[in-house]
Amino acid sequence: KIITDWDAYNEELISRLGSNNKLLRDMTNQAKQDPKRVVFAEADNYKILRAAQIVKEEKIATPILLGNEERIRQIMRETELDLGDVEIIDPKKHTARSEEYMNFLFKKRQRRGVTSFEAKKMITDRNYYGACMVQFGEADALISGLTKNYASTVKPALQIIGIEEGISRVAGMYLMITPKGPFFFGDTTVNINPTAQELVDITVLIEKSVRQLNIQPRVAILSYSNFGSNDGELPEKTRAAVKILHDKYPDMVVDGEMQANFALNPALLADNFPFSTLNGKPANTLIFPTLESGNIAYKLMQEIGGAEAVGPILLGLKKPVHVLQLGSSVREIVNMVTIAVIDAQIKCAAMEAKTKK
Ligand code: ACO
Repeated sequence: KIITDWDAYNEELISRLGSNNKLLRDMTNQAKQDPKRVVFAEADNYKILRAAQIVKEEKIATPILLGNEERIRQIMRETELDLGDVEIIDPKKHTARSEEYMNFLFKKRQRRGVTSFEAKKMITDRNYYGACMVQFGEADALISGLTKNYASTVKPALQIIGIEEGISRVAGMYLMITPKGPFFFGDTTVNINPTAQELVDITVLIEKSVRQLNIQPRVAILSYSNFGSNDGELPEKTRAAVKILHDKYPDMVVDGEMQANFALNPALLADNFPFSTLNGKPANTLIFPTLESGNIAYKLMQEIGGAEAVGPILLGLKKPVHVLQLGSSVREIVNMVTIAVIDAQIKCAAMEAKTKK
């Protein structure tokens, strides 16, 4: 079904979430201060085009569309969308940039089993082409994943753009806008069964990102066990991660392993575990022991918890690529573009600071 009444939908959500939606409004305002060029890999899709029109009109981003131009223009005509003089590129046709992108991809992956013939073919894929545009600075961020599975969208970004210096894992985070305020969930999308050290790396990455949104992170490492109450591979892994975090990051507000209700209910935590370094206020950043638990938790919150899920925010890549969840709504796509623009602003500022040194 085509969503035509964006404003009514927006109003409904704002009234439901009240002031808790302030963070989202602040983020929109931040994005508008320095809009970036965002390339949409799946532009032959109504929801993507509608979101692209909204971010263009709201001056959040300058969209660039990837796909068959005729098909994209036909959808725009049929649905009365108007993106003005928007740039449309078809990676299936040999563009002025295809050759350089192909050479780059081949050079990067030739010792990972990719032949030059394959590289030529891969570059006609919109996710590879879009990742190259970001890599070469011809776009500031890539948005994709609405119609494909997560892994096939994130792989081109890992292969072409790679991870930020000093970071060992990329990870996915969700901002959950709930009637009780914003919460951050991770890793909800990438690392299937992280080791204790990988859990530490994921926590550090997520904690830093929450801080970048001007929110003081209070981190709980979740489990089905509370501070050694249960044995087993998973509680032991989370316990080991907490120990490393306490030893290496003494300033981080983090504790665990603990069950989710103790993380979110300060009275319960104080009554039972008065020694916890999280005492006083609920945690706002929840780290899950496995991808399965994190992914299930955020989707339950979304479907029966009345929360709005903003994300998945992909953290740790050198340049901004954000992968939508399959079937995202127009509003969710707009939110992701907002995140992508802020991510690009932060990464551009860091790059400028580095080159000035
Ligand atoms: N962090 C950093 N680097 C990574 C990571 C990571 N988490 N994962 C892979 N890499 C590296 C690889 O080591 C490889 O390095 P190389 O350049 O030296 O070869 C490079 O990135 C490319 O990786 P690939 O081999 O192409 O990818 P891989 O087979 O490792 O798969 C993937 C990575 C796709 C992220 C995999 O871990 C996965 O499928 N995760 C689960 C995704 C998923 O299904 N999510 C749930 C649904 S999402 C949702 O609900 C919105």
